[in-house]
Amino acid sequence: MSFIIAEKLTTIVEWIDERTAIKNLLGNITKEPISGGSRWAYVLGSGLLFALMLQMFTGVLLLLYYVPSSDAAHTSVAYIQKEVLLGNLIRGIHYHGTNLIVILTVLHTLRTFFWGAYKSKREIVWITGILLLFIISGFAFSGYLLPWDNNAYFGTAVRLGIISSIPIIGAPISEIILGGSSVSTLTISRFFTFHVGILPAILFLFIALHLLVIFRAKHAGSYNPTTNVEDFYPKQFFKNCCFALLIFIILSSLSYISPAHLEVEANPSDSNYIARPEWYFLFIFQLLKYFPGHLGFIPKVVLPGLLFIVVFLLPFLDKSPERNPLKRPFATLAISILLFGAILIGSVAILEDRSNPIVKAQLERQSNEAKLFLKSEFTPKNIGKTAIPEVESSSPPPSIYQTKCVACHGDKAEGQVGPTLHKLSQKEKRSREDIIKLLKDPKSYGLNPIMPTFNDLSDQELQQLADWIVSLK
Ligand code: HEC
Repeated sequence: MSFIIAEKLTTIVEWIDERTAIKNLLGNITKEPISGGSRWAYVLGSGLLFALMLQMFTGVLLLLYYVPSSDAAHTSVAYIQKEVLLGNLIRGIHYHGTNLIVILTVLHTLRTFFWGAYKSKREIVWITGILLLFIISGFAFSGYLLPWDNNAYFGTAVRLGIISSIPIIGAPISEIILGGSSVSTLTISRFFTFHVGILPAILFLFIALHLLVIFRAKHAGSYNPTTNVEDFYPKQFFKNCCFALLIFIILSSLSYISPAHLEVEANPSDSNYIARPEWYFLFIFQLLKYFPGHLGFIPKVVLPGLLFIVVFLLPFLDKSPERNPLKRPFATLAISILLFGAILIGSVAILEDRSNPIVKAQLERQSNEAKLFLKSEFTPKNIGKTAIPEVESSSPPPSIYQTKCVACHGDKAEGQVGPTLHKLSQKEKRSREDIIKLLKDPKSYGLNPIMPTFNDLSDQELQQLADWIVSLK
């Protein structure tokens, strides 16, 4: 029996292979030579790829509920977090995944740098890698606004303020990104389009290019010349899989230990709110403080510009074939100082906030408010008149309503001059009997005199009206 199944399977595999050459492709991947043998240090790139795929997967699941508009974005995210089955896990992985991807990207880039893996025909690998780094920052930047809580709103406002203060090109760029002059529902649309449409397409393209040129140039392997060469499969493959599993375990445990951050809905008039960037942007935030006013273009334009040129052109600037980090002291030292400096400056930003009692108190208040909000029960939100379509299902209004009430309460009792009459019977002192009394004498119910007195209606008409209003859900 099992023999027959095996034979059938082989035929199927052969059939597919004849048409796709899949065996050849898999063979090439599994036999990819790694000079110096497999190492744990090489798991970072594939780990990054895995984390990105996980981000893609959880992102698509979030899309099943997320609504990109200033009215609904926050409520839909809160709904995912508090109500949807496994919603907190999915959003938690997506949220903590961002931090992990930043860490992996930095480590992967540093590893490539220290081991001189950008040398000897791997220039394009390096350049596509740096472009991927920018695409990934684009994801972090655009995803930040989407939950539409205070943090998202004010954080994005600050970032766009920084962009718009760049001389000449800043203002038009920020206007295009914003879709106007301030952060609005149009900004959500634009960020959303970038986050789920444009960036993923570019990301796929560059991941494909990155991998393609890696296969062409071969895995860089050890920086010491060696004759010991190992196939990618099974040892390196196994290490990569272990690392991917570890990533998954870390992210899913984190989403329970420390649920994804969500503050109260964005309130643009909250003038006390203090926005702080994520940890990986803290050093830029702190640098901006050291260069006030006109000098601001140094950290905004000059430094990033220089860094970009040096990093992007690195394989062309540094042409010596030496790959051992200990034999390239200048390069190793320069990057170590830069890295250490960024961590130091970022820490100063945190220390400064802690030593300022006003800032410290406000930041603590914000964080407590966020924790309370996450713990509170989910409350649905009705938005505008579109929230009343349920009216269609209730019975049509009595004819007396059409003549006497429509003008002020709307033809579906959705509210115009007067308030909506839906769910009225859930309120206090608005039972069927109360409504009849109220219509005869609105003043005794403390209502505004705009609501006319209807003591000229027959008892039957009043009852019909009251019955209908009570039936409005
Ligand atoms: C000229 C405009 C106008 C007309 C016509 C009118 N209403 Fe009103 N109605 C109001 C306004 C304004 C209020 C809100 C008063 C307040 O909240 O103080 C109100 C309040 C009410 C309330 C109380 C709602 C609440 O939230 O407590 C009921 C019930 C009501 N109207 C029913 C009717 C019915 C039934 C008719 C027709 C027979 C009618 N109204 C006709 C303007 C009108």
